Amino acid sequence: MRKFDIVTPVIEAGFDELDHADRRLVDDAMCATDRAYAPYSKFHVGAAIRLDNGEVVTGANQENAAYPSGTCAERATCYYAHARWPEAAFMAIAVAARGTDGEFVAEPVAPCGACRQALLEYETLAGHDVKVILVARDKVYILPSVRATLPLAFSEF
Ligand code: THU
Repeated sequence: MRKFDIVTPVIEAGFDELDHADRRLVDDAMCATDRAYAPYSKFHVGAAIRLDNGEVVTGANQENAAYPSGTCAERATCYYAHARWPEAAFMAIAVAARGTDGEFVAEPVAPCGACRQALLEYETLAGHDVKVILVARDKVYILPSVRATLPLAFSEF
């Protein structure tokens, strides 16, 4: 028997500590919250994905009267990004959210398990780490890879 720890490295940073490209990605994710269709939860989530062809693709959660038919911002965005630019590798994703009070969340929003699994597929396709930036009102958490968000991920069968 052997015990081991799985460690998730997280960097907490202020907006002014981000480089230009990451700051832009954060801004794009925050702007994308305005385009959420979330009449049921009123939780407006935006995502922005930077591709290696220089494009930034944004998306937002899309809800539905039949609740499970809705889609999170992360999956709306990664599916669109890969459908639009199938040859391009993902480089980084930023996720931002505004709560029912309309304000950006005080603590960074984290992708749900299904979105982590979906994003992992594109990290595997990219063949390199895809940076994950989780955005709050006045700080971000930066994780080095999607894999870091999903320990013991399912990836082969
Ligand atoms: N949601 C996202 O879009 N991304 C997340 O990371 C968490 C949750 C959406 C799904 C649903 O439309 C609403 O937020 C409330 O769960």
